[in-house]
Amino acid sequence: MKTVLLLNGPNLNMLGVREPAVYGCDTLAAIEAEVVAYAAERGVEVACYQSNHEGALIDKLHEAHTAFDGVIYNPGAHTHYSYALRDAIGSIDTPVVEVHLSDIEAREEFRRISVIAPVCIAQIKGKGKAGYKEAFDVLLEYDAKR
Ligand code: DQA
Repeated sequence: MKTVLLLNGPNLNMLGVREPAVYGCDTLAAIEAEVVAYAAERGVEVACYQSNHEGALIDKLHEAHTAFDGVIYNPGAHTHYSYALRDAIGSIDTPVVEVHLSDIEAREEFRRISVIAPVCIAQIKGKGKAGYKEAFDVLLEYDAKR
C-alpha cells in the first residue's frame, strides 16, 4: 500500500469549533497532520480532502479508483442518507473504511443507520480522532492479505 486518501464530508471542516463535547477540540488540520505522520512512519503517503458538497466527494471517490490504494472516510451526515455516496463507493475497487468520531449508535435515532457501511470493509466509531489511525491500520492489514 503506497497511497491513501483521507476523506472528510460535510461540517468536518468545523472540527475544533463544532460541538467539542461530541467531536473533541482538535481541528481537522491537526487530525490530518497526525494521520499523515502516522502513515509516513509506515511508508505510506496520505492525501487529505474535505468537502461540504456531495458531488465533489463523489468525484474524489471515483478518482480513488485509480489514484489511491485505500480510503479512510468520515462521511459526516451523508452517512445516514446518501445513496449517491454509497453507490460511488460501490463503483470503485479501492477499499474504504468508514470512520466516525462519535459513537453513532449511542446518539439520536437517525444516526444509527449508515447507508455507507454495507460497501465499506469496516466501520470504526466512537474512538475520537484515534479512529482515523485505527482505520489506517485496518487498510494496512487488509492490503497485506490481498
Ligand atoms: C460523524 C457523525 C455524524 O452523525 C455527523 O453527522 C457528523 C460527524 C462523526 O464523526 O461522529 O458530521 O460522522
